[in-house]
Amino acid sequence: MIKASAPGKIILVGEHFVVYNKPAIATAINLRAHVFVKKLEGDFKIKIYSKNLSKKAIFNMQSENKHSELYPIYYAAYKTMQEIGKIQPVEIIIDSQIPPASGMGSSAAVSVATVKAISSLLDVSLSKDKISKIAYEAEKIVHGRPSGIDNTISTYGGTIVYQKDKGFRFLNYDVKEAVFILVDTGIPRNTGLMVRKVRLLNDKYPEIMNLINITAEKLVLRFINAMEKNDLIQMGELFNINQGLLAAINVSNKKIEELIYAARNAGALGAKITGAGGGGYIIILTTKNKANEIMKVLRELSEHVFLVNIATEGVRLD
Ligand code: PMV
Repeated sequence: MIKASAPGKIILVGEHFVVYNKPAIATAINLRAHVFVKKLEGDFKIKIYSKNLSKKAIFNMQSENKHSELYPIYYAAYKTMQEIGKIQPVEIIIDSQIPPASGMGSSAAVSVATVKAISSLLDVSLSKDKISKIAYEAEKIVHGRPSGIDNTISTYGGTIVYQKDKGFRFLNYDVKEAVFILVDTGIPRNTGLMVRKVRLLNDKYPEIMNLINITAEKLVLRFINAMEKNDLIQMGELFNINQGLLAAINVSNKKIEELIYAARNAGALGAKITGAGGGGYIIILTTKNKANEIMKVLRELSEHVFLVNIATEGVRLD
C-alpha cells in the first residue's frame, strides 16, 4: 500500500481574474487530501472509494462512467499509468481533510495526490511539473477551463504568485502576526458554473471587463508589495477592494456579503471570497489578538468557522 497526500489551498487575491491571464496569489493550507493505493490482481480495473463522499465506483476500459463524481480520480490514475507506460489494476481510497466544493482546492489536491501515489506504486518518480500537468488534465474534467492555479499550489505548496502564461514563482511570505479565518457560507458552489458566468460578462462587456481585469492585476502587485513589507493594514484593505471587484463580476451574494460585513464590523482587517464564490468559504484577515472575538461573532452566522495555517509542503509520500 502506498500513501500520498497533497494540500488544499486558499486564494488570497486574484481569483477569477487569473482565468484571464492576470496574476493571483495562492497559499497551501494545513488541510490535506490523503490517497491510499494498492495493486489488484486480475483484469484491468480501477476501484475507487471516497470516504468523504461515501461513494464507490469501479472503472474499466468498457464502462467508463464519465458522469461519476469519482471519474476525475480514475482519469488522473489512468493518465499517470499511460504516462509511465504500465497499465495496472489498482484500488484507490480517498480520505480528505479538505471540505469538498468549498473553494479550498479539494479536487485538485485529490488528483495531485493520486498521481503521486500511482506513480510510486509503479516505481516511478515523476517530476512535480509532470504531476501538476496530469492533475491539471483531471481538473479540466471537474471545472471546464481552470486556470491551473489549484493543481500548481497543491503540487508545490508554499505561497505562490501564479499567472497562466508565465507559470509561478514562490513568495517569501512570513507575516507572523497575520491570521486567516475561514467561514462557510453553507451554500455549495460550483467553480465551473461561476467561471462560465464571468466569461459571459467578459464576452458581453469586454471594454469594461478589461479594465476590471487590469485593476485586479494592479491589486495583486500591490498585495505582493504589502506582503513583502509585512503590512497587514494594506493587505486587509486590498482584500476589501478585491472583494469589491468580485462583487462587480457577480460572484458574490447576500450571504457572502452578510458574513463579510459581520467580520469587518467585528474588527477584521479585511474579508473576501476565496475561490470561485457564489457560496463556499470566505476568508478573513486579522491579527492573533482579534481572532477569537471575530470567530465568536461569525459562529452565530455559520456552522463552520476555523483558523487556517499556511503549509509549506506540497505533494508528498506519507
Ligand atoms: O475552485 P476554487 O473555488 O478554488 O476557484 C478557483 C479559482 C478561479 O479563479 C475562480 C478559477 C480558476 O480556474 O482559477
